[in-house]
Amino acid sequence: MRLITRTKGIGLIKPPVPFALCPEPYSLNAHKAVMDLGGDFSGMKQLLLTCSAIIMLFITTGFALGNEERGGYVGTETCLECHEEQYESYLKNYHAIEGDPRTPAAKQMCESCHGPGEIHAEEEDVELILAMGRDSDVPAVKKNEACLECHTKGKLTLWHGSTHEDRILSCSNCHSFHKGYQKSLSKPSEIEVCVECHQPIRSQLFRRSRHPLREKKIKCGDCHNPHGTIADKLVDAQYVNLKCLECHAEVRGPFLWEHPPTVENCLTCHTPHGSTHVALLNGKTPYLCQRCHSNQGHAGELYARGASQANQSVYRALNNKAFYRACLNCHTSVHGSNHSSGKTLLR
Ligand code: HEC
Ligand code: HEC
Ligand code: HEC
Ligand code: HEC
Ligand code: HEC
Ligand code: HEC
Ligand code: HEC
Ligand code: HEC
Ligand code: HEC
Ligand code: HEC
Repeated sequence: MRLITRTKGIGLIKPPVPFALCPEPYSLNAHKAVMDLGGDFSGMKQLLLTCSAIIMLFITTGFALGNEERGGYVGTETCLECHEEQYESYLKNYHAIEGDPRTPAAKQMCESCHGPGEIHAEEEDVELILAMGRDSDVPAVKKNEACLECHTKGKLTLWHGSTHEDRILSCSNCHSFHKGYQKSLSKPSEIEVCVECHQPIRSQLFRRSRHPLREKKIKCGDCHNPHGTIADKLVDAQYVNLKCLECHAEVRGPFLWEHPPTVENCLTCHTPHGSTHVALLNGKTPYLCQRCHSNQGHAGELYARGASQANQSVYRALNNKAFYRACLNCHTSVHGSNHSSGKTLLR
């Protein structure tokens, strides 16, 4: 819990209702708020709704006042006087290409993103400029607005309503314009950007079976669009199988003898990031197969019947369905088979 104390500029005007009433997520510190959101929301809905209403009111009035106080555009020359470092780094960025009429460089330059800075340049007051850094107290919505003025299409089409917008992330949680990294990211590589918040995923990347993300053969963005998707979990496809089959065409089929769960959802047996079992499986054979295949009869009898006699020990070992690759010892074509006698996925 904390109080918003800003009183002028583009900050919020001091509210008569203490923000301490609002739960932490609305402390307006996007980065921190976001990390606090794992908790239990039950029973808080009403409070949240009230708080958002109050906040929206103050955001609107606060900023309406702020804009008047900020004066007009002064141009990059002026900014350069005090912010040479940011100017230099900005020049390395696509947004600095004047030849492209759509970029900020062809418009108000620095002030396309940071807003008019006339009075800021005179008073050198941080509160009088749109500070977009992750530490700034400006609400994420307000920071994002500056970007969304130009970025509404392509990967950004589904930003509104996406999980990351929902969880009050701002563009600058992942992007920076004064560091010179690819795609204007805030860290040298995409993985580093993502695992800063997604530590459990990071740990999965160290398991024995995993997608080769650490080797930089693929990246989070090959499967996810962090800006929003139609599918669940920000998976960048209509549904998950289509995403997997983009790279694993050999599993696509159509098969003469299909194995229904493969057509249905790869994640019935696989986990995407990392697994302690082979081949990214989310369970160990034979138990994985026995989740669906009857615990009686062939699939359920893990040891051969009547194998007590010594001369049957060889047979028993061969027929041991819990041994080595278990069911996969025999059922090798587990995704489906195109062999004329592959009905039981043996070949
Ligand atoms: C006369 C000097 C001066 C001029 C001119 C100036 N600024 Fe600043 N600016 C400052 C100072 C001082 C700060 C506060 C720095 C701090 O607190 O670390 C600041 C802070 C900022 C910040 C916020 C940094 C943060 O902490 O997030 C931004 C953004 C910014 N200026 C952009 C601009 C832009 C854009 C222009 C041109 C329109 C401009 N400035 C012109 C002196 C100036
Ligand atoms: C495309 C939008 C955009 C443009 C154009 C832009 N900035 Fe920024 N600026 C940002 C964002 C986002 C941040 C916060 C994240 C970061 O560190 O890059 C930022 C941060 C800053 C900061 C705070 C720096 C810090 O290290 O905390 C200053 C000062 C600043 N910008 C000045 C400028 C100046 C001067 C220009 C023009 C030469 C400029 N910006 C152009 C988006 C922009
Ligand atoms: C005045 C318009 C404008 C504004 C404001 C703007 N951008 Fe852009 N941005 C562009 C254009 C134009 C491109 C080039 C797009 C292309 O090639 O399709 C671009 C490219 C990008 C790229 C990818 C290219 C790269 O390597 O950097 C990112 C990421 C990006 N913008 C993020 C942002 C964010 C975040 C903000 C807000 C802080 C922002 N932009 C503000 C116009 C803008
Ligand atoms: C959770 C992290 C994250 C957030 C939040 C985020 N981005 Fe991105 N953005 C990325 C990553 C990662 C890429 C690079 C994707 C790639 O290489 O395919 C990217 C790429 C882009 C691109 C280039 C798209 C292209 O077609 O190459 C633009 C433009 C962009 N972001 C704008 C924005 C804007 C505007 C916002 C805020 C509304 C935003 N991003 C918020 C992570 C993020
Ligand atoms: C500033 C922190 C932050 C960063 C950086 C970040 N995320 Fe997230 N992400 C979140 C939060 C918070 C959630 C919601 C978690 C929840 O609901 O449990 C989330 C959820 C997700 C989800 C699940 C979506 C859903 O609908 O359940 C995916 C996938 C995801 N992020 C991918 C990424 C990728 C890829 C990147 C890097 C480009 C990234 N995130 C960077 C904070 C972050
Ligand atoms: C091979 C594709 C693929 C790659 C690469 C990938 N993901 Fe995922 N991710 C998925 C799929 C598919 C899901 C949905 C899982 C589900 O529905 O249970 C998912 C789910 C998630 C979730 C939601 C939480 C969960 O475990 O269900 C987060 C967060 C996430 N991914 C983050 C990341 C990050 C961060 C990276 C990069 C380090 C990354 N992913 C790389 C495919 C991928
Ligand atoms: C962007 C391409 C790409 C996408 C999308 C993708 N994969 Fe992969 N996958 C790979 C690569 C590369 C490897 C490593 C292959 C190698 O090392 O020979 C791999 C390996 C695997 C492996 C074998 C792992 C092992 O330890 O042997 C499985 C299983 C797998 N992927 C399942 C999936 C599933 C399920 C999905 C969908 C959620 C998916 N993949 C999406 C590229 C991708
Ligand atoms: C019924 C469970 C099941 C389903 C559903 C399933 N798989 Fe598999 N998959 C397996 C098993 C078991 C293995 C290990 C095979 C082996 O070790 O011979 C495997 C191995 C793999 C491999 C590693 C390469 C190989 O052949 O060794 C890839 C890639 C793969 N699966 C992709 C997929 C994709 C993509 C989907 C969804 C279209 C999918 N799987 C659905 C059980 C399944
Ligand atoms: C999500 C449930 C599910 C899982 C897990 C599963 N299967 Fe299946 N399997 C099915 C269904 C459904 C059929 C089709 C049954 C039918 O056509 O009567 C099937 C068919 C088969 C068949 C052909 C049976 C026949 O009568 O033609 C074999 C062999 C088989 N599965 C082996 C495996 C093996 C080995 C595994 C573990 C790697 C496994 N299954 C995991 C659901 C599953
Ligand atoms: C020693 C080799 C072998 C092992 C190990 C094995 N199977 Fe089979 N399985 C077969 C053969 C051979 C058939 C075909 C029998 C027939 O056509 O009458 C078969 C048929 C099946 C069938 C279809 C007929 C039926 O009885 O329902 C299913 C389902 C099946 N196996 C599942 C499994 C599962 C699950 C495992 C692991 C617990 C497993 N099998 C382990 C050899 C094996």
